[in-house]
Amino acid sequence: MDTHSHIVSELLKSVSREHLTIKALHYELNEVSSILNNGNASIKLLGELVSVVCTHIEHEEELMRLVRYKSTLPHNESHNEIIRFLTSMTLECQRNVSQFHYADAASVARWICEHEEEHDNPLYEFIKSSYSHICM
Ligand SMILES: [Fe+2]
Repeated sequence: MDTHSHIVSELLKSVSREHLTIKALHYELNEVSSILNNGNASIKLLGELVSVVCTHIEHEEELMRLVRYKSTLPHNESHNEIIRFLTSMTLECQRNVSQFHYADAASVARWICEHEEEHDNPLYEFIKSSYSHICM
């Protein structure tokens, strides 16, 4: 495998691991906020989620540059909206811990799912068709 393909392959592995972590964290966030109704635990999880999402976005944007993906701009704009949304939600919840509840966790999940459907899936389809030799 050439160096370029190797780097793309490693980044693909990272983003795929991050996707699993993001899904696990937002599942946990749903449980903690709806069943336990624990504001402090929810905010801690939200902080972890923001951190993983930021790393994931960096990796994904690097991946788009490397594979010369054409629809980079709307995808990056959506990433910026997610970061703005998560940051303002975190600040709001830190000001009033008891404010975080199930509806917030559900809207985090909705943002992530909508982004995945609209932007991430077409990117991964593109990579699959252009780099079939490294995609399993
Ligand atoms: Fe994305």
